[in-house]
Amino acid sequence: MKRNAISQICWFSLLLGLNSPYLLAAEGPAVPAPGQSKDAFIRELMQRMTLDEKIGQLRLVSVGPDHPKPVLLEEIAAGTTGAVFNTVVRPGIRDLQDAAMRSRLKIPLFFAYDVVHGHRTVFPIGLGLAASWDMAAITESARISALEASADGLNLTYSPTVDIARDPRWGRVSEGFGEDAWLTSKVAAAVVKGYQGKGLDQPQTIMAGVKHFALYGAGEGGRDYNTVDMSPQRMYQDYLPPYRAAIDAGAGAVMVSLNSINGVPATANKWLLQDLLRGQWGYRGMTLSDHGAVKELIKHGVAADERQAVKLSIKAGVDMNMNDDLYGKHLPELLKAGEISQSDIDNACRDVLAAKWDMGLFKDPYRYLQGADPVDTDAESRLHRDAAREVARKGMVLLKNKDDVLPLKREGTIALIGPLADSKRDVMGSWSAAGKAFQAVTLLEGMRHATRGKAQLLYAKGANVTNNPDIIKYLNEYNTDVDIDPRDPKVVIAEALEVAKKADVIVAAVGEAQGMAHEASSKTNLHISFSQIELLKALKATGKPLVLVLMNGRPLDLSWEDGIADAILETWFSGTEGGNAIADVLFGDYNPSGKLTMTFPRSVGQVPIYYNHLNTGRPFDHEHPNKYTSRYFDSANGPQYPFGYGLSYTRFSVSDIQLSSAKLRKGDSLTAKVTVKNTGKRAGETVVQLYLHDVAASISRPVKELKGYRKLMLKPGESKVVEFPIREEDLRFYDSSLRYASEPGDFKVYIGLDSDDVKEQQFTLL
Ligand code: NOJ
Repeated sequence: MKRNAISQICWFSLLLGLNSPYLLAAEGPAVPAPGQSKDAFIRELMQRMTLDEKIGQLRLVSVGPDHPKPVLLEEIAAGTTGAVFNTVVRPGIRDLQDAAMRSRLKIPLFFAYDVVHGHRTVFPIGLGLAASWDMAAITESARISALEASADGLNLTYSPTVDIARDPRWGRVSEGFGEDAWLTSKVAAAVVKGYQGKGLDQPQTIMAGVKHFALYGAGEGGRDYNTVDMSPQRMYQDYLPPYRAAIDAGAGAVMVSLNSINGVPATANKWLLQDLLRGQWGYRGMTLSDHGAVKELIKHGVAADERQAVKLSIKAGVDMNMNDDLYGKHLPELLKAGEISQSDIDNACRDVLAAKWDMGLFKDPYRYLQGADPVDTDAESRLHRDAAREVARKGMVLLKNKDDVLPLKREGTIALIGPLADSKRDVMGSWSAAGKAFQAVTLLEGMRHATRGKAQLLYAKGANVTNNPDIIKYLNEYNTDVDIDPRDPKVVIAEALEVAKKADVIVAAVGEAQGMAHEASSKTNLHISFSQIELLKALKATGKPLVLVLMNGRPLDLSWEDGIADAILETWFSGTEGGNAIADVLFGDYNPSGKLTMTFPRSVGQVPIYYNHLNTGRPFDHEHPNKYTSRYFDSANGPQYPFGYGLSYTRFSVSDIQLSSAKLRKGDSLTAKVTVKNTGKRAGETVVQLYLHDVAASISRPVKELKGYRKLMLKPGESKVVEFPIREEDLRFYDSSLRYASEPGDFKVYIGLDSDDVKEQQFTLL
């Protein structure tokens, strides 16, 4: 049924007074009366719903080989489906919504999708977005994603991913925003704001579904889906705040994680979904299981069978069940047997209906399908290339720049070599399903645009992203994502060397295939592949300046690369405009300002490594080394590149810290002030960071915790004074009884350009 027909029904029913509660008992569409409140509407609607219709609302499914569209259309028309995911074009969505309008109560479906770092226009992966430390840019990327996704008819995204991750072996660190709870909370709120705008009643918005609740990033050994065992203090202090920040910013949905927490899978975790989420945090939105998670309770070993898995999930508070039919199959009999109550089902159904109300779907089920359908879903005119380029370059991090080899000059001959230099699929990154690889700009294309008519650009692939047949099979399991040059690797390297020999400088584009930094892509080795190392060794042997452009979705072990390369630029997977954005940075049209939000280790053996660790009773002091201290005998303790690190083409200095007072009283604030100066020859931006440390508290506190930052643009020679207010609230933490409070005593203040390179001061909280 089309939008007009719905409005006609509404108007007609108004004329006849059909909206009185009594008459609503008749079959008819679920349409709110003018002025009717959300609660009243949902209450009345639920009075008209059968048990099967209520349970139907809890079903979140997709079309697939096991679930063909004609079958789904029938199910929807029978009122047994609440929402559909993975249908991503308007005609498909319209067909499905039409089927819902054929159902008895015409309750609209909502449509969900993984709009993770862009939709038609692909922005950098989460780690790249976060590395910009630019909340306005991050919000803008989410706003554009919402605009494009809502134009396709989508209502909800399974995003943002705010799982704190300290283990780069986990492939999904790429999706999140790094290791720091404070910064990730800011990013989480910025993304939700971008998706939901001033409210979901506004056009061009989509509902945010924050995930994966909770602690999904802390799986043992960095292995995806693995067990999480964590102290309450660490949870509350370091892992939970970003979910809460997304919820406080208004996220309308929460996706429940696949892992267990201290033995209880999140999907069956009453403490998590009720006591914490609803009780302590006051969340009133909808909860979604992750894909197949209800059934997985059997393998987790907490449910003997499907029936018990359903009982545990609904009782824990999982409203919608993603992609299996177990709720429909078992909820009726569980209710009949008195093992669950009517209110268990009603509460879940109410949450789903409320989300649909918030999306404006009861007023107009076709609200997101207004206007003409795009003639071509993949039309170039739908893309937001300028914004994608701007955001992508903001997130790039300059890791090394010996003798200012960068920026490159547009002159002479430049050799671009490497398996990632011309890969359209890889530059977009994982979770970019609605993005089209043919629209992505590779580095080769970007450098061609940048050098045309000025410098000679030569290209050779030089190596496959890997030659390991098992890994190639893994990467190409569903699509041929990785093109493999079948020639002998030595021949491929020799060809690249011929190219390299003709050049004044070599740019090597190396790293990971996007499929290596995705769901189900944990790995034990953080080096780039052997094939690429062989290539780099050969390139290094030419003696030419060697610039590495890295594309990857996790902190890698770059200790060897750091030794051989003249410059290293971390570009992540930078999206549709990646190639242009990287060229902007390489040629100095943009001065890099990104800063790492996840520590880069010296080796996989240091993992987990993160800047905000506790001190131990025997901390290692590299100025006074002592055997019986907390250290490795075969490696330095510190990281290769610390949290907050990133260079610029200019230099900055930070003055000593001036505190407005050496004492802070509760209810007051003091100011920490530094002067930041651009001491180099180019204009540039940097991120000045404030860290605090509680010197002696009732429990050990991290050596440093980020509590503020400013991103500043300074002209050559220019100075700016940066002031950070410090309030008693900034000093609070969860103590051993989970009381969130500050404790009087001494505090260190650190301000600098990364978490290692800091100035220090001290004050006392009275
Ligand atoms: C499973 C993933 O864990 C989740 O992040 C994603 O949103 C769903 N699949 C749907 O694609």
